[in-house]
Amino acid sequence: MDLISIDSLSDADRDGLIGRAIACFEDVRSGKAAPALGDRILFNLFYEKSTRTLMSFATAAHRLGMAVVTLPVEQSSVGKGESLADTARTLGAMRPSVLVIRHQQNGAAEEVADILEAPVINAGDGTNEHPTQALLDAATLVRNFGSLEGKTVAICGDIRHSRVARSNAKLLPRLGATVRVAGPAKLMPDGAPALSVDEAIAGADAVMMLRVQRERLEDELGDAPGEYLRLYGLTPERLASAASDAVVLHPGPMNRGVEIADEVADDRERSLIATQVEMGVAMRMACLELVAGKSVA
Ligand code: NCD
Repeated sequence: MDLISIDSLSDADRDGLIGRAIACFEDVRSGKAAPALGDRILFNLFYEKSTRTLMSFATAAHRLGMAVVTLPVEQSSVGKGESLADTARTLGAMRPSVLVIRHQQNGAAEEVADILEAPVINAGDGTNEHPTQALLDAATLVRNFGSLEGKTVAICGDIRHSRVARSNAKLLPRLGATVRVAGPAKLMPDGAPALSVDEAIAGADAVMMLRVQRERLEDELGDAPGEYLRLYGLTPERLASAASDAVVLHPGPMNRGVEIADEVADDRERSLIATQVEMGVAMRMACLELVAGKSVA
């Protein structure tokens, strides 16, 4: 099976992945080895920059005993004009067990999945989806709260360009959470509810802040230094209006002092940002097991 979007994920697979990721998280912490896919090969195909997603897929694969091969896209024939479809056919002919792709174009993962025999995992396609990020966010929240039933999650910032927001807005309500989205008008998708960041955060159980994706902006945002944080950013004052046990999430990379204040990012009580990264490895272990068809649960 492929893992391309939240919509194509069954309830059973969703719950299985979250449960398995939480178990892997504890196993990794306690040093318990889980080599299950020792005869498999993972291909990483990243057309866009990545630190967390690329490294966590590679780490997850190594923890499962898989071999990892990463195409250095900038030094590859992509620079000679080879199309995505031909690149997919070429890599498919080398018979990887799983291929993970990140690409700037919406629908790229699906296009590659249609070509490859091997399972394909979407590690972010344009502004469309980033399903494994939403799954790891959900697992981080489930591990913290026990359940998302009745919880309110505020997702704030550059919603328009965020595949993380799109995947989370699909996944979290399926787990019983209410999602509020808010951000500057220029960074909201057309037709989104006009909620202010203050309204979204008030009383929320979790606040997920998103980076302003200036590389995807057509016009400059034109914000003066400090203005974004003051109007839309997560400051200690704004966080104080959330629930008393509210937690803070951010998929990274953070623009400190823009969408999130240092004091909040580094708040040991409230910030789950490092836990998200840790869960990222665990969730990708669960995803690799699932798509490679050899669950050890
Ligand atoms: C995000 C992405 O690439 O979609 N990062 C990530 O995968 N953790 C968000 C971003 O780039 O801001």
